[in-house]
Amino acid sequence: MPDTTYSTPGRPRIAVAGATGRVGSILTSLLASDPVDVIALTREPEQAKAPEGVAVAGIDFEKANTLDDALRGVDSLFVAHGTSPGQVANEIALIDRAVAAGVRHIVKLSAMGPATRLIPCAWHMEIEAHLARQPVASTVLRPSTFAQLLALYAGAITAGFWTGAAGHGRVNFIDTSDVAKVARIVLLDVVAPESQRAYHLTGPRAWTMPQVAEELSRLTAQAVVYKHCSPEEQRATLLSFGVSPFVADLGVGLDQMFRDSVLGETTLTVEELTGEAPRDLSDWIAENVELFRQSEAASA
Ligand SMILES: NC(=O)c1ccc[n+]([C@@H]2O[C@H](COP(=O)([O-])OP(=O)(O)OC[C@H]3O[C@@H](n4cnc5c(N)ncnc54)[C@H](OP(=O)(O)O)[C@@H]3O)[C@@H](O)[C@H]2O)c1
Repeated sequence: MPDTTYSTPGRPRIAVAGATGRVGSILTSLLASDPVDVIALTREPEQAKAPEGVAVAGIDFEKANTLDDALRGVDSLFVAHGTSPGQVANEIALIDRAVAAGVRHIVKLSAMGPATRLIPCAWHMEIEAHLARQPVASTVLRPSTFAQLLALYAGAITAGFWTGAAGHGRVNFIDTSDVAKVARIVLLDVVAPESQRAYHLTGPRAWTMPQVAEELSRLTAQAVVYKHCSPEEQRATLLSFGVSPFVADLGVGLDQMFRDSVLGETTLTVEELTGEAPRDLSDWIAENVELFRQSEAASA
């Protein structure tokens, strides 16, 4: 059962799935200052650190009653889910229970990208298509690549290089805080019943990976190089880091999209919706520069 301590009659009630994740955690913190009741949905309620004033509900995607309990009385639902094999089934289960519970507006975190068989875009297409058929207002957020993706390569970058099969393709990076700001705005919107919207969210410009390497070199004051390799070589490298075949395929699929510049589009949507220009990749790197810097001991 959701903790109803923070339930206020007459205030809109917003549930956030994926509240412990990169976008959801920022969104939940932002909403905590708004005149709404916020409920964070998580599989691990004991470990969740919700902001002051935010209620927490434990959910198990395979137990419909846990979803029904968490969604009772909810007006708007944000759906984010980590990229893992259960994603399509879990998001669809959540959407179905939300519709059954009378949720009026579902905001789904999707991804920018072409019609493709590549994950995660293929999965998002499937979930979006399901959502589109439901008798509920919906807003789909399709961000470009998260700046935070670079953190996955930080270990390699501190050693002076990382590898990839993205070639000289152009990629637009968006900061997850900008995605969360847009999500807040659309969740607070009063939408017409069964209205359907989709927004393409990007940072201010696109980069090639060699340009990202140059920027990392400038900001860390250390030489950083992007080493080009084939998709097969990149898959083998990722597997050698100990990731699963699923994650290795995901990384190689993303590189294919990067190489083809299909995530290179730049839109004005973040600024139009939030009133603030989106953060540049440089801002994010500068803020997190220590992640990418060689330690004094390692460089000595
Ligand atoms: N990375 C990118 O560059 C990028 C770009 C565009 C779009 N996206 C999309 O953004 C979404 C991810 O958003 P995010 O980065 O904010 O999420 P995230 O940090 O990866 O994870 C969000 C939350 O999903 C919940 N979750 C529930 N079931 C899960 C499961 N079986 N496996 C993993 N997590 C599960 C987890 O919460 P609990 O553990 O608390 O239950 C987790 O904290 C994906 O759909 C992805 O396709 C990503």
